[in-house]
Amino acid sequence: MGYNGPMTDYVSTTLLLTVDPTTPDPATTARAAQVILSGGLVAFPTETVYGLGAHALNAEAVARIFRAKQRPSTDPLIVHIADPADLPPLVDAIPSIVDELARRFWPGPLTLVLPRSARVPDLVTASQPTVAVRVPSHPVAQALIRAAGGPIAAPSANRFSRPSPTTADHVLADLAGRVDVVLDGGPTTIGVESTILDLTSAPPAVLRPGGVPVEAQRALLPDLTLRTLTIADGQTAPAPGTLLQHYSPEAELILFAGDTNAVSARMARHAAEQLARGAAVAALVIGQAPLDLPAGVMVVSLGADEGEAANRLFAVLRQLEHNTDVILARAPAPVGLGLALWDRLWRAAEGRVVQVE
Ligand code: TXA
Ligand code: MG
Repeated sequence: MGYNGPMTDYVSTTLLLTVDPTTPDPATTARAAQVILSGGLVAFPTETVYGLGAHALNAEAVARIFRAKQRPSTDPLIVHIADPADLPPLVDAIPSIVDELARRFWPGPLTLVLPRSARVPDLVTASQPTVAVRVPSHPVAQALIRAAGGPIAAPSANRFSRPSPTTADHVLADLAGRVDVVLDGGPTTIGVESTILDLTSAPPAVLRPGGVPVEAQRALLPDLTLRTLTIADGQTAPAPGTLLQHYSPEAELILFAGDTNAVSARMARHAAEQLARGAAVAALVIGQAPLDLPAGVMVVSLGADEGEAANRLFAVLRQLEHNTDVILARAPAPVGLGLALWDRLWRAAEGRVVQVE
């Protein structure tokens, strides 16, 4: 099950090419760009996560992305360009705030949702009147887009509903035989995906918290709203294409939110119950005081702060699913990168949040 058969799958022989992440060899990126130009798929590192790229204006190539990932065609893709100057052909109108946002955050982990132009294939936008665009800062992504000489559509390079890949190994684990080239530029630096900002709504809305903290955007957009999740109760008002079952590891994840001491006690109780059942239990913590958990729980620190935790989260989820049944996670404070972490943990938990008073 889960395999759609050769008619609907994109099958290829995957070529793994190592590139220096800061000064990629031009011959290597040119070779990968040639694959993009001939309609193939190239997985490449960005500063956030690895992307699965195809020529954004080639609908047949874009269709391969959906087949390779087994992603529903109702979920639109982000278009990656090398320079803000490449934006006009993709969009219908450019609100004046775009200049300021681009000066401040591009290249970098911010995706802007704008009115689309007729040039962008329907498959890229899921037939919506908008297109999502970003300018990645990673030197390999920059070199690849420039060598291809055109925009590259790229979702995260994971199978649909798997944690996003932060290394070439993660890409191969999900997509070997489904992507023509993997450019291995080592681990990504930010580790969670870009922030998605919808500029077509009034007020402008963050659809997905990510690499650029919401607080930093508020300086330019004082009326900015969050249209993704309600921190208080874990309820969702889903953005287009944003599904709850996203980033799911195979182990069950439960998120605990609330007062630190009360959370610690509740996690300890839950852990003891699961251990008694014979389950392998892990606890995820971020730079906080150690939890008082029963012996036998594998305590995994994601890092000293939210930045380190964002960088390691997806890799840790991929590691833990092989040797744990239950993952208990303490919710981070929903500020700065902590908001993006909260969102990814909540999705990995498929909405299982224990709110402790
Ligand atoms: O950091 C990132 O954004 C990475 C790297 C590769 O750039 N890409 C990424 O793409 O995370 P993906 O496809 O995994 O997530 C993109 C999200 C999806 O949830 C999709 O629904 C949303 O962006 N999206 C794309 N186009 C949109 C649009 N026109 N309006 C609203 N949401 C859109
Ligand atoms: Mg994704």
